Amino acid sequence: MMNTAKPGKIDNDMDQAGIASARLSENAEHDLLANEDILELLNILLEAERAGARAVQVLSKQTRDAVTGETLQEIAVDEGRFCVMLNQHINRLGGRPSKKTGDFFEKLMALEQFDDKLDLLDRGQSWVVRKIRGALARIGDEKLHADLLDMLKVHEINIKSAASLRKADW
Ligand SMILES: [Fe+2]
Repeated sequence: MMNTAKPGKIDNDMDQAGIASARLSENAEHDLLANEDILELLNILLEAERAGARAVQVLSKQTRDAVTGETLQEIAVDEGRFCVMLNQHINRLGGRPSKKTGDFFEKLMALEQFDDKLDLLDRGQSWVVRKIRGALARIGDEKLHADLLDMLKVHEINIKSAASLRKADW
């Protein structure tokens, strides 16, 4: 009796597990961001990148140190490149690219000390990394996913580059 009961229970457990995993994948599909949520995210990132591009561009011209200027210039080029990428995806997905510049620019310009500016830059770039990391799994569009992953990786590299400028004479 026990022997016939056990396989039945196992079969039942397996059925339950099958149902549970089917539910999980169904939920994963439901967890994908809706187009309007993706557009909202892309516009938030676009405003942040525009602010970043402008701020880093200005910083690169304020420095007297050639290496610092060059590094900041390279970061500004990346930020500008991501603005173009985000604009293109927003248009492709039927949205309207925001023309606003994030308040990050004004905040960074208001600071006087170079290290304080680097701190704020680091916080801004880290925020972008967290924002993308939190959304990637919920983006089904392959091209957008690949471009945001690239943006995430480049930001991680640029955060390290900016950190290396801390002791530079600017
Ligand atoms: Fe950025």
